[in-house]
Amino acid sequence: MQTQMRRISFALVGYGRFGKHHANILHHHPNAVVEVICETDHIALQQARFDFPEAKIYTEPFKMLQEINVDVVSVVSPEDTHASIVRAALNNGFHVFCEKPLATQLADAKELVILAREQELKLRVGYILRYEPRHRVLKQHIAADKLGELARIRAKRDISRTWFETYGYRVHSAYETLIHDIDLILWLSQQRCQTVSAWGGYLLGYDVPETLIIVLEMEKGTLCTLESSWLVPSGAPANIFGWEDSSDAGKGVVDASLEVVGTKGSSFLKTYEPSLTINDAQGSYHPDLAFWPQIDGRTTGALREEIWDFIQELLGESYAQVDSLEDAIHVQEICEAVVESEKSGQKVNIG
Ligand SMILES: NC(=O)c1ccc[n+]([C@@H]2O[C@H](COP(=O)([O-])OP(=O)(O)OC[C@H]3O[C@@H](n4cnc5c(N)ncnc54)[C@H](O)[C@@H]3O)[C@@H](O)[C@H]2O)c1
Repeated sequence: MQTQMRRISFALVGYGRFGKHHANILHHHPNAVVEVICETDHIALQQARFDFPEAKIYTEPFKMLQEINVDVVSVVSPEDTHASIVRAALNNGFHVFCEKPLATQLADAKELVILAREQELKLRVGYILRYEPRHRVLKQHIAADKLGELARIRAKRDISRTWFETYGYRVHSAYETLIHDIDLILWLSQQRCQTVSAWGGYLLGYDVPETLIIVLEMEKGTLCTLESSWLVPSGAPANIFGWEDSSDAGKGVVDASLEVVGTKGSSFLKTYEPSLTINDAQGSYHPDLAFWPQIDGRTTGALREEIWDFIQELLGESYAQVDSLEDAIHVQEICEAVVESEKSGQKVNIG
């Protein structure tokens, strides 16, 4: 006799570029169902209705949270909306998956983690790199002391300029791009950060820097440099596709790498590999196959690993256990110090 499979029901907040991938992944999981979608933009809403005709649709997240009965709320709305939606979701008794950043204010992040613990609810923050196989293998090598004591970590994350002008400007780039690398450094090094120094470049004339350099001094002496510029020109071979719905605007580049140098060994990881080249009448492309590639209408890659892993945990099955709310708070401490240092020109001591 077959036993009934438990279903985990989701409400998704935000059906934009990334929310669509979350929804697609949940839709293809045998134990998950997208029951509710909340979206404020009418075109995105129409798309949500078309893609998920069975789902209940809302246009206001707080009203939705009062009325629905689901297991999990996935927050994939813009960065500055996260804290208030996550707070309301936890207060209404829902587990939460929140895309990065958890909050744009440290005080909010701390409060949310306490709230989740008090309510005995799961709270995950979308640090996708912890679920990508090459990063997982590198982590194992570092944990097995193959590289020795870590002397230096260097992370680079350059992004298309057109994306800065479309959405990258809406939050300080510490929270948008290098937050991933700050999280990686905590996870790989298993160290707390002592001091933060940061410099911003404002050549595009926005309120937030399009260029950011960060230096972190870690508690056991590892020195980390992180660099990001949203200046990759549109002629560079794209590796991310369909980021917006129409035409070439959706194509763009994330050019990222991670170098770790230790007393016994070193490593280099090119985050978006150019291992597949497609040439057509418009140019050459290197489609990303690691993070959220779409294959036969299914979103796969590290994003699927990450979301499926959370479902495993909710089902009470074995899961990767690579997420950490302690690290999530420390990431926020570092990001806040980056903004302070970049504005004041002073090194910030957070140790
Ligand atoms: N982990 C990663 O690698 C990764 C990659 C991309 C995006 N993200 C994160 O995902 C989140 C969404 O990014 P995106 O690129 O999809 O942005 P987006 O602007 O394309 O989508 C956000 C959607 O949320 C909707 N929205 C705005 N306010 C809302 C509200 N109050 N309630 C409900 N819906 C609302 C918007 O109309 C929009 O459709 C961001 O936090 C971003 O940082 C993470």
